[in-house]
Amino acid sequence: MSKFKKFFSPNIILRKLGYKIIKDEEFLSKEFRRLTNDNSVNKIRYKIIAEKLKRDFSDNLNLRINTENIISIIDQFDQIFRKFPFKNLEGGFGYNNALMLFVFIKILKPLRIIESGVFKGFTTYIIENAAVEQTEIICIEPNEDRIKYRTKKAKYYRQDISEIRLSEKENTLVFFDDHVPHKNRLNLIKEKNFQYIIFDDDVNLSNFYHDGDPPIPTINMIKNDHPGYKTINWIYDNQKKIKNYEINEKDKSIFLDYDYYKFPELFELTGYRSSSFSSIIIKKN
Ligand SMILES: C[S@@+](CC[C@H](N)C(=O)[O-])C[C@H]1O[C@@H](n2cnc3c(N)ncnc32)[C@H](O)[C@@H]1O
Repeated sequence: MSKFKKFFSPNIILRKLGYKIIKDEEFLSKEFRRLTNDNSVNKIRYKIIAEKLKRDFSDNLNLRINTENIISIIDQFDQIFRKFPFKNLEGGFGYNNALMLFVFIKILKPLRIIESGVFKGFTTYIIENAAVEQTEIICIEPNEDRIKYRTKKAKYYRQDISEIRLSEKENTLVFFDDHVPHKNRLNLIKEKNFQYIIFDDDVNLSNFYHDGDPPIPTINMIKNDHPGYKTINWIYDNQKKIKNYEINEKDKSIFLDYDYYKFPELFELTGYRSSSFSSIIIKKN
């Protein structure tokens, strides 16, 4: 390379400016850079998290769980989480939400799990490791070339969940992390009688503008907001955004049949901040 070309190569210019280009695989999310391997400390951490979840599930979802059982689930999660081969979790779930996803699958034991929005495949990995052997796993991702982690246990689709022919099956857990308005999923949920639904990016009127493409109206908005607005607008990194925001009483009727629980912010208990707002609705008995 000539001296001229070398001087003007992008990496050298960036380095002079104090920047460095690193490959996706080389970037480590905080959860993989900041941790403790001290087992006695971890046992205390798991117990504190388990006690919080036990209280939360009983108060909000009428779910009774055994503390020792949850401690063991959190312990399993922590080990599985650390072994994920791709350590850049940007654009998907981080430690806290993945922990909640893992715990719910372990305690609810769904017979079928549908993941809508795979991206690189981190949450597929969590689902695969939490599910029992017989669980049917369906993964949906229109941009299949983005998937880095695939499992043989799942069947993959590119089309939207509403276009997939789904057989009748009791005890299905659906995980929506696809940026489609949560409101648009309500008819399908009722029609298919899905038992458990996890929604990611469940923003509300106080925080929706942190996201460039939130699934508005979200299930949180449907639960907590007053019908009446037609549109909602905001600014995201200098871009003007506007979305339809019509919530009606029919949408709200979902809560006659389902209990709602927002995943807690576990920062104080795990040392990691949640990557996004998530929640679960569970069919009432
Ligand atoms: C936030 S990412 C999913 C992250 C992943 N669940 C994780 O935490 O590792 C959202 C993904 O949804 C996909 N997507 C967009 N529209 C979709 C649809 N209608 N059905 C399923 N996935 C969709 C996008 O291509 C993108 O990869």
